[in-house]
Amino acid sequence: MADDMTTFHALTVTDITQVADGAVAVTFAVPEELREQYRYVPGQHITLRRMVDGVEVRRPYSICSSAGAQQLRIGVRHVAGGLASTHINRALRVGDLVDVMPPSGRFTVPFDARHRKTYAFFAAGSGITPILSNLSSVLEAEPHSQCLLCFGNQTVASTMFADELLALKNRYMTRLELCFFLSREFQDIPLFNGRLDGTKVQALIPTVFGARHFDDCFVCGPGEMIDEVSAALIGAGVVDAAHVHTERFVAGARPDSIAAATAAAKTAEETGAPMTTVTVVMDGRTRTFRMPQSGERLLDAGLRQGLHLPYSCKAGACATCRCRVTAGAAHMAVNHSLERWEVEAGYMLTCQSVPTSGTITLDYDVR
Ligand code: FES
Repeated sequence: MADDMTTFHALTVTDITQVADGAVAVTFAVPEELREQYRYVPGQHITLRRMVDGVEVRRPYSICSSAGAQQLRIGVRHVAGGLASTHINRALRVGDLVDVMPPSGRFTVPFDARHRKTYAFFAAGSGITPILSNLSSVLEAEPHSQCLLCFGNQTVASTMFADELLALKNRYMTRLELCFFLSREFQDIPLFNGRLDGTKVQALIPTVFGARHFDDCFVCGPGEMIDEVSAALIGAGVVDAAHVHTERFVAGARPDSIAAATAAAKTAEETGAPMTTVTVVMDGRTRTFRMPQSGERLLDAGLRQGLHLPYSCKAGACATCRCRVTAGAAHMAVNHSLERWEVEAGYMLTCQSVPTSGTITLDYDVR
């Protein structure tokens, strides 16, 4: 693993703008010497690290700016009880320094000015953040392509980036079509009331989609919405399955469940449970530690041993903790981010994996 991809750098907050009730967009200045490292493609995310109430908090946030924008900007919705999102929405100030990991993620396709494609984007709530990045990038980069955005929210006031979307519509009048769905406010046209789910997609086929076949569809939101919308699109034959691109927003592991697994691991060690010797190869160095086969995740065990292993969401969604198992075996409970070829090639997410062999080698240097 290139060390610089998981190294945090302190970036200065240059702007905080409210983009809906309970949601802000935060812009960071990227100094000249870090430009290359923080160059991003649409749909990628960055991981923020802050100390909040004496606890280190890491969270991935999607970039909302387009690939052509000269800025690094993320969208953050306040989540009730969420340490990081509450801090960012209420306490963060322009001029603050925030530790930021360079961009990663693959929620995009290559854009090309020669393309004449038809894209459809489906977003729910804060799922609009990486969708906005992709949508504005397509509109800027592909002058002959058409875009449809279907965006579901509870109310008008909670709709993130509504003004920016309407500005895009004004700018690209003939190439962008917007459909807003509201689940807790009534609109005159019944089709646009209710949640954006599989049933809604089926209702859109004869009315909004018409005879269109989409070259690429992007879907972002909670897991259930992604599953339903993707299945409805593929089932209706309006897009090929290989051209449905998804990005899942999932809650991170609860700190108490991690603490419980850690406590169980310590007890297992004391009672002589089967142990695994874990060898970690990173940045050309090799480190070894032992952990019990008690359900504790490899990442948590490594952090407990004082290793500086990369991670962000701890929910199987961001792939920051990805490495390759080059010897031994592990069981990966959840995977929202690795592709099938990666799993087949031995890659895994350490935040979701437990060892199942007496020895295991994790290689972070092979990407
Ligand atoms: S830390 Fe995000 S997938 Fe493991």
